[in-house]
Amino acid sequence: MSRVAHPAGPRHGDVLPADHPPAAPDDLNALPEGIWPRGARRSGGALTLGGLDVRDLAAEFGTPLYVCDEADVRSRCHDYLEAFGPDDRVFYAAKAFCSRAVLRWVSEEGLGVDVCTGGELEVALSAGVPPEQITLHGNNKAPDELSRAVTAGVGHIVADSFEEIARLAYLTDSFPAGPPPGPPGATTRPNVLVRVTTGVEAHTHEFMATAHDDQKFGFSLASGAADEAVRRVIACPGLSFAGLHSHIGSQIFDTAGFEVAAHRVVSLAVRIRDEHGIEIAELDLGGGFGIAYTDEDDPPEVKELAQSLRAIVDGQCRAAGLTRPRLTVEPGRGIVGPSTVSLYTVGTIKNVDGLRTYVSVDGGMSDNIRTALYDAEYVCALASRASAAPPMLSRVVGRHCESGDIVVRHAYLPDDLAPGDLLAVPATGAYCRSLASNYNHVSRPAVVAVGAGAARAIVRRETLDDLLRLDVG
Ligand SMILES: Cc1ncc(COP(=O)(O)O)c(C=O)c1O
Repeated sequence: MSRVAHPAGPRHGDVLPADHPPAAPDDLNALPEGIWPRGARRSGGALTLGGLDVRDLAAEFGTPLYVCDEADVRSRCHDYLEAFGPDDRVFYAAKAFCSRAVLRWVSEEGLGVDVCTGGELEVALSAGVPPEQITLHGNNKAPDELSRAVTAGVGHIVADSFEEIARLAYLTDSFPAGPPPGPPGATTRPNVLVRVTTGVEAHTHEFMATAHDDQKFGFSLASGAADEAVRRVIACPGLSFAGLHSHIGSQIFDTAGFEVAAHRVVSLAVRIRDEHGIEIAELDLGGGFGIAYTDEDDPPEVKELAQSLRAIVDGQCRAAGLTRPRLTVEPGRGIVGPSTVSLYTVGTIKNVDGLRTYVSVDGGMSDNIRTALYDAEYVCALASRASAAPPMLSRVVGRHCESGDIVVRHAYLPDDLAPGDLLAVPATGAYCRSLASNYNHVSRPAVVAVGAGAARAIVRRETLDDLLRLDVG
């Protein structure tokens, strides 16, 4: 079979598509730090995760498979908590990956959990996350979701629209009025944060930016809607106004956007103090801290990030003569993203002459939509063995009936790759299983947790019976 081999990346004269691939890595068997889970190794050539050989995992649980390293998740929780310190709070954004096991781990490590739907809220409650350690946000919370959050006694509800404030007012109409509550959870009066749209243009993909004015989240600062929202929350006797929330977007690598956002939010906090005589107790700056998917990504260390965010908030509050509120951050990707590796079995291998080799795997856009949705870039490696064969410029594609069904746009795989080999794609812990679909009636893969030499499914694989059960004819 003629394959496109690129020992040193694309060669002059090759007919290459417009999106030029990067140069081939020096060592195709390497597991670069920062992209792979902290416990990833090679043993006898095969990839091991949490001390377990991926060939055994594939044999026991099948492929495609998400393999999540529990120790990696826990260690990242620890990094965030240590970096932000005891005065500030770290909440895991459950939207990145929401399962009871993971919510239990993060809660055991001392993080709160933020949820954006009633479904995520139920998972958090059933995982045993203390309600006061839960924040509910979301741009269109249904009345029953708000009602459940209020009766469960969640710590904070993030108001995102005037309708929601009215709904919350209605739900809490009969609650006793009085001074603001003590510690969160000490009263049934919900603590409400007002989500502010700061007008910041985060340097990230359009669909991951959430604070520019022209989008659906929050109350605009520029239009005065945010000031009005605060007025309305304060006017509701059944609600306790706790502070402000801002989330500027995701996969952000520099703190410049947070600085502008914090500056604008603090200006609002000053106006609130001047108008209502209230200093905000809480400032939630959301999540969005970037991780490395490829060698090209160079996210800041969590410690640096925390130092700089804390300094920004301290400085802005000092300059405005405001008592510094308690800071909360909500990392999702930063906690679970690097913990997980997707395992696939290679099916067909097709060389498109002069262009590249298409390697089809047994999953695709139904288990990782990020490449199609956000132009996300991933790396991948031959996992079932090491190989000394030369690099072959490849595109790893799925089994779905779409030409955009791409898992890894530019992959260098050894040119002796064969059907039946296992491929591993790292950094798939966030927004892969949670965005998975049944497109083409493909069942969603299992998620297996590895740690201390053992593996267990924390989300089981869907079966055809699961799919047929929903089709009631
Ligand atoms: C309000 C809010 N908080 C936190 C997050 C988590 O973001 P990330 O996973 O990028 O850290 C998101 C993600 O979009 C979000 O919308």
